[in-house]
Amino acid sequence: MTQVLRSVVTGVGGYLPDQVVTNDDLAKIVDTSDEWIVERTGIRRRHKASDDQPVSDLAVAAARKALEAAGRSPEDVDLIVVATTTGDLTFPATATIVQRKLGAPVGVAFDVQAVCSGFVYALSVADGFVARGRAKCALVIGAETMTRLMDWTDRGTCVLFGDGAGAVVVEPQMGEGTTEDRGLLGFALRADGTKQDLLYVDGGVSTGQVGKLRMQGNQVFRHAVVNISEAITAAAADAGVEVSEVDWFIPHQANLRILEGVARRVGIEDHKVITTVADHANTSAASIPLALNTAVQDGRIKKGDLLLLEAMGGGLTWGACVVRF
Ligand code: ACO
Repeated sequence: MTQVLRSVVTGVGGYLPDQVVTNDDLAKIVDTSDEWIVERTGIRRRHKASDDQPVSDLAVAAARKALEAAGRSPEDVDLIVVATTTGDLTFPATATIVQRKLGAPVGVAFDVQAVCSGFVYALSVADGFVARGRAKCALVIGAETMTRLMDWTDRGTCVLFGDGAGAVVVEPQMGEGTTEDRGLLGFALRADGTKQDLLYVDGGVSTGQVGKLRMQGNQVFRHAVVNISEAITAAAADAGVEVSEVDWFIPHQANLRILEGVARRVGIEDHKVITTVADHANTSAASIPLALNTAVQDGRIKKGDLLLLEAMGGGLTWGACVVRF
């Protein structure tokens, strides 16, 4: 057997802002109803950051909990990757702001921008450092304040999103080169820039404005199940596992109908699916680590379990990865 350095998740943390916005609250500002939102999306409520809470604050809160769970302190951290599409400023990267606020020493820190697929992308990028022995203690964070990108007159989008952050600590550990090793075992990342018009923000540096999220939801929906399922099959093949071996499926929490449709298509039983969309809504890059944190905290996910993560978002980008926890 060949000894292989693996990127192992050693701690998980999450943070949700205090303010909760229910579907009934939104029905007071746009023509919608709790019944429509629950039936079409599974969403019941979402959290919203306060005006004085930049996304880096959410990221730092989640990171502190992940470090505590891993038994590490900020001084140990030598790599920070933040997956976000709602960074505090155009630059610097939110990761460097997180580094400063945590009091982590000089190291590597940068953001990954792949919208809702950001966490899957960021974990795969961090693996490039950790599994090559270039980082000893990495923080991979998904953090978003999506509510700041909402057009509060567009009922087709403003009911779908929420704010939050989730983080994992990733450390190198030697494995035996088998699928029993703990760590990131395989992944598949995809992007198709020709589908930009389906989901984008109509602002940015070139426009001089932050902009608002625009989405042709039903078109995105059409691509989601097929695309994600293909990436899952590819990630499982990359890891050398069968999808049937997966203990827990942790999908991006955009819409209950999408995640259940994907699970059905790839043959994952309902009881293995972790869903938080009802309480968190779509928190973009934060949704997977937040869902992971929820299931670790409530005791469902245990050390050694085989996890399948997947996401799809603006770009379009999508991807999946297989992790032995
Ligand atoms: N309340 C009431 N009615 C609504 C609402 C609302 N909040 N939103 C839309 N409608 C109406 C529409 O106006 C339309 O009315 P019409 O028939 O009179 O024109 C009707 O409902 C149907 O609209 P659709 O858009 O076809 O509804 P659909 O069943 O597709 O559900 C939804 C919409 C929930 C957005 C769904 O398409 C979806 O979840 N899409 C995927 C979203 C996603 O996964 N995004 C990717 C990640 S996000 C990221 O990367 C940032």
